[in-house]
Amino acid sequence: MRRFAPWLPAIVLTLALAAAAPGRAQSPDGARLYQQRCGGCHSLDADRVGPRHRGLIGRRAGAVRGFRYSPALARSDIVWTRTALERWLRGPRAMVRGTTMGFSLSDPAERRAIIDYLASED
Ligand code: HEC
Repeated sequence: MRRFAPWLPAIVLTLALAAAAPGRAQSPDGARLYQQRCGGCHSLDADRVGPRHRGLIGRRAGAVRGFRYSPALARSDIVWTRTALERWLRGPRAMVRGTTMGFSLSDPAERRAIIDYLASED
């Protein structure tokens, strides 16, 4: 007769825990995603490749003084609402032809998390 292996339950438990904690969080963390996806070009308080973002919701497009926007975005007449941002992040160049931001986000959950984050940092 085979002997009971006392270490077996520990291994089963470890595997179960690993399966229950996948690498991707269920509700994406907006601050972290913002750093990962946008942080290469943007920050909240400093202009980089793209303009600073603090106070974005409700602001007119092209309104950060001293940042050199493309003429296309500067004269776009957009006001940054959540809906406008959703469209922008899905495809900036489809929304504003001639913009210099060529980055888009295809995952709706990521767009929502980042917009929530930006709305909370006004
Ligand atoms: C590869 C660089 C790059 C990345 C990555 C990037 N952006 Fe941009 N972004 C820009 C540039 C450049 C502009 C200015 C566009 C213009 O003048 O046409 C801009 C402009 C913007 C604007 C307009 C701001 C204003 O003052 O009118 C918003 C909003 C914006 N980006 C949001 C984001 C968000 C959110 C992310 C991350 C999901 C992101 N961007 C990622 C380069 C980038």
